[in-house]
Amino acid sequence: MTSNAKWLQRLQAVECRDSSYNAKSDPLVFARAQGSTVWDAEGRPYIDLCAGFGVVALGHNNELQKRVFASSINHEALVTHGMGDVYPSIAKVEMLETLKAALPQHLSKGGLALSGGQAVEFAVKTAQIATGAKGFINFHGSYHGLDLGILPLTSRRDFKDPFRGWLPEDRVTELPFACDLSEVRKAIHAQKAAGFGCAAVIIEPIQGRAGIRPHGLDWLSGLAEICQKEKVLLIYDEVFTGLGRTGQITFAEMVPCDLLCLGKALGGGLPLSACFGRAEVMDAWPQNEGEGIHTGTFFGHPLSCRLGAETLRTIQEKKLPERSLILGEKLQGMLREKLQSHPLFADVRGRGLMVGLELREPLAGARLMDVLRRHGVIALASGDKGQGISMTPALTIAEEELVVAVQRIADALSEI
Ligand SMILES: Cc1ncc(COP(=O)(O)O)c(C=O)c1O
Repeated sequence: MTSNAKWLQRLQAVECRDSSYNAKSDPLVFARAQGSTVWDAEGRPYIDLCAGFGVVALGHNNELQKRVFASSINHEALVTHGMGDVYPSIAKVEMLETLKAALPQHLSKGGLALSGGQAVEFAVKTAQIATGAKGFINFHGSYHGLDLGILPLTSRRDFKDPFRGWLPEDRVTELPFACDLSEVRKAIHAQKAAGFGCAAVIIEPIQGRAGIRPHGLDWLSGLAEICQKEKVLLIYDEVFTGLGRTGQITFAEMVPCDLLCLGKALGGGLPLSACFGRAEVMDAWPQNEGEGIHTGTFFGHPLSCRLGAETLRTIQEKKLPERSLILGEKLQGMLREKLQSHPLFADVRGRGLMVGLELREPLAGARLMDVLRRHGVIALASGDKGQGISMTPALTIAEEELVVAVQRIADALSEI
């Protein structure tokens, strides 16, 4: 049997140094997975509290995936690839219809892409076209992807400094997390006064990568009100929070937005993302008369669309958003009960099955993540200083699995 370490060695011989984590201890290479269990290359099982960055909402290798993949072998229509912006596939039509039906009525038109970053780029371009303005407002700690075009909107300097100057960053105003709303109004006015205008405010209703930091619903309502008054679009980046993980398909069910970005879980495990918006905003795009001005070869890939539409229907039919809220409360309760007496414990927070544990020291989360592998749990270090871990398991994870995982987190924390 080839060990995890040996696989990593082989990988490092062929892969860009930046592309995989060079874990110094207890390296982990995924070999197979089922539900919320992953087995490494040496056959060791782990409880997966990440679900592939929240992608496999129904669990790894779930029955739906197996059914869709198996039927693709004998179903000649399933992988009939359309021609992106020229000739659509039936699968794309059905995916967009299914998504529209799942979203609040005001978000009625959209388009598909492959990654979360591309969904954000779609929204950013839409906002520029719809408003004619070029400025954007984001928030400290935000993560909207690493594609060059949208890089200035991502907060972390280490992600963007090597590429400075590609886009004029002075057209992005970064405000403090959950700042006083008067600062938003001031920033909008400043961008208008500078002449390039303010196209949109972009926000993750719950910041994911920054360590699961929720914005309160009242604060979001206040933000939406300002955007409406100032005629600036409000973009929700729900690439992570969307599609049931945080208790609803989108926060726009509670506080409406103008544009919505979805990704990760959208393709049921395959690459698929979407930008949806108000019809009047999306209709700012010119009519495609044979060639779109925003397209990609694999946008709306038919297999992703089939699996995505079925996954979305299953999330709704099985009432997984509601389950996620209940189970998330329990998870937070268990974490607090088991961990709060530990000197490193700082906070547990989140909504639904998007839960963050914050510790008191920089890099403590990164250390915990490493020790957790030895205890058979996969969780991700998070926060701008690696001070916490984030948990975004499959929406189908069993409560008993969470009970075991919490005990292992407690055990691991006592070792760091
Ligand atoms: C909120 C948010 N937006 C955008 C992205 C970028 O998505 P992708 O990595 O698929 O480009 C992520 C990825 O983690 C995300 O969490």
